[in-house]
Amino acid sequence: MSYAIVGFGKIGQALAHAFARKNIDVTVASRRPPEALAPQARAIGPTVVAKSLREALEADTIILAVPFGEHREVAKALPSWKGKTVIDAMNAFPVPEELDGLPSSAFVATSFTGAKFVKGFNHLIAATLAADPVVKGGHRVVFLSSDDEDATAPVAALAKQLGFAPIKLGKLNEGGALVHARGHTWGQLIFQDLFKKEQ
Ligand SMILES: NC(=O)c1ccc[n+]([C@@H]2O[C@H](COP(=O)([O-])OP(=O)(O)OC[C@H]3O[C@@H](n4cnc5c(N)ncnc54)[C@H](OP(=O)(O)O)[C@@H]3O)[C@@H](O)[C@H]2O)c1
Repeated sequence: MSYAIVGFGKIGQALAHAFARKNIDVTVASRRPPEALAPQARAIGPTVVAKSLREALEADTIILAVPFGEHREVAKALPSWKGKTVIDAMNAFPVPEELDGLPSSAFVATSFTGAKFVKGFNHLIAATLAADPVVKGGHRVVFLSSDDEDATAPVAALAKQLGFAPIKLGKLNEGGALVHARGHTWGQLIFQDLFKKEQ
């Protein structure tokens, strides 16, 4: 499996810390050239490598960590998303009217046709997401939701590898509603920093 994070701001860097902590290779990219991101990538760890957006999108699994409105620009950068897994770590808040009642991830998924699409890593503030998820006796929880059940398992495996405890919430408009915003209200699980005890 190869991984890329698109967007190297607060959430992109928080996730890069998680990959670096476990020595897992990850490519990071934004609209800026890789040379502009390289010092910060290097500072996070040797497994974090800045590349151009085009090169980053060669990864099998791509985490979206850009402002919500930018997802279409990222989607346009590949002619086809078939065979890719896309993890949506974005939040739409307040919810734009164009969503017309759809969960934001279901709306985003329509731009990434053919991809296996999973919402995850979106419910914590960046500083918390960046911190070690392994605490005495437990692992920080991340919630995963998807309309494609098969898509969730490899993302859950990645979350575990990164030291998190993945909790599957089911479909985007079912359990996933708990990690989406509605209008000006956050879903009930957003900002809930939970830990799962070792079994
Ligand atoms: N901050 C939080 O605590 C938090 C928590 C949970 C979820 N989120 C969600 O995570 C996402 C990112 O938030 P953030 O706080 O990390 O934002 P941020 O600090 O502003 O970072 C956004 C990143 O996206 C890049 N970017 C913007 N447009 C792009 C494009 N078209 N293609 C490639 N890269 C692009 C920017 O870099 P360039 O300008 O170089 O392109 C920047 O690196 C948002 O959807 C937000 O709702 C944030």
